Amino acid sequence: MHPLARLDQRFLWHPFTQMRDWLKGEPIVIVRGKGAELEDANGRRYLDANASIWTNLHGHRHPALDRAVKAQLGKVAHSSALGLANEPAAVLAEKLVAAANRPRLPGQPKLAKVFLSDDGSTAMEVALKLAYEFARRSGRSAQPRFLSLRGAYHGDTVGAVSVGHIDLFHKAYAGLLFKTDAVMAPYCYRCPFNRARAERADAREYRKCNWECVGKVEQAFARRTRRAEGAGASAGARANAGDGAGYAAMVVEPLMQGAAGMIPQPVGWLRRVAEIARGHGAQLIADEVMTGFGRTGAGGGAGLFACGREGVRPDYLVLAKGLTGGYLPMAATVVTRTIFDAFLGEYGEFKTFFHGHSFTGNQLGAAAANASMELLATEESVRRRGELEGELRAALAGLWKLENVGDIRQVGLVAGVELVRNWRTREAFALAERAGIRVCEAMARRGVLTRPIGNVVVVMPPYCTTARQVATMVRMLEEAIGEVLGGGAGG
Ligand SMILES: Cc1ncc(COP(=O)(O)O)c(C=O)c1O
Repeated sequence: MHPLARLDQRFLWHPFTQMRDWLKGEPIVIVRGKGAELEDANGRRYLDANASIWTNLHGHRHPALDRAVKAQLGKVAHSSALGLANEPAAVLAEKLVAAANRPRLPGQPKLAKVFLSDDGSTAMEVALKLAYEFARRSGRSAQPRFLSLRGAYHGDTVGAVSVGHIDLFHKAYAGLLFKTDAVMAPYCYRCPFNRARAERADAREYRKCNWECVGKVEQAFARRTRRAEGAGASAGARANAGDGAGYAAMVVEPLMQGAAGMIPQPVGWLRRVAEIARGHGAQLIADEVMTGFGRTGAGGGAGLFACGREGVRPDYLVLAKGLTGGYLPMAATVVTRTIFDAFLGEYGEFKTFFHGHSFTGNQLGAAAANASMELLATEESVRRRGELEGELRAALAGLWKLENVGDIRQVGLVAGVELVRNWRTREAFALAERAGIRVCEAMARRGVLTRPIGNVVVVMPPYCTTARQVATMVRMLEEAIGEVLGGGAGG
């Protein structure tokens, strides 16, 4: 075993990892990367098919990002955002506000202020605390409550877990959490309201339903609003009604739920749901930690964020992962001026947002983020992302012939391939069979790295991935499915 692998196994504890399994094998120790490739301590090269847990945009060691971080290192690595401003963070905030307001959406909120933090979970935590406090201060509710989607994952800090609904991750901490409500997420492939028989296409395209998923959201809001009205007609009475008030906010991952299993929403779902939420006076928190920065597609002038593709602008835009191009931990919660203003006052009124971390506004992270945003705006990047989306689609189409491929769900530059025992019956593998994990292990043996979500294998190439590399990623997935599940062609 490589000495670094031995060191890791002696002292480290890995995230979301059964360490007993980890200690059985020899871990891959990554020592360098270039473009879409990573290299291990034994000199073996791999394609990074999950963009280093959905963070990497432009590839590893991108010259422009490397230059930006080195240049910043030549000045200062970090200074506190408590009481001090800094150059790259101020520049980044301007860029984020400009990008967050594209495309222009008349009649929708305008985003105006950026609160920086460190990771997706912390950016969610910021959005939740702000929305909680905003609902109290605006008199909407004394005990603000949130609605989010079944299967949602918004991070693993306590607030983010409270609005998450993945039992496997969250059940253990139930006693620590605040109460939130869950509503059905659109999951056309396994939707109880979809009457269509399985076909060899993305289930969104051939579904037969009456948009019951949207109806469920309407019902959830209506139930809550009825309770609020029952608690008292006047705004004052409602504010005192606590638990009986309407939802403070709805939390969604727009266009595609990531850790839920790469579950995409049919076109029109987000727009309708946003209208329902706003119609009931609730705010919208868009968790674009996974979907942001062009991940859901480059074309059509829709801007860098998934919400824009549905003509929706949230009140809180939550960003992380790709913010720094995947280089450094940094996150942002972008909000409207109305929210910001609710925290203004004389010092002694203590309306301050009492929240922040040691590394808030980190200069190195902000420098990387600025360079990444500049790259995203280049014509070359937009063109290449458009091409890569088509190349990924073409490569994935070859998997429909496999018996063990039930659904292939692609939104822009992210895809989930759901493995099943038999595509006609949609019969799932039991989680304990570790079908997804075993397929990904077989891919790693073939030089392609990704992680599954249960039975769903994620394919999320960095934007610099070449046509040949994306074809290799998918070919190795096909070979791995054949080796592990052995179902062969079932077309
Ligand atoms: C949609 C979404 N929100 C929030 C998070 C949490 O982000 P982080 O792991 O950076 O805390 C994740 C992480 O996968 C995510 O996919």
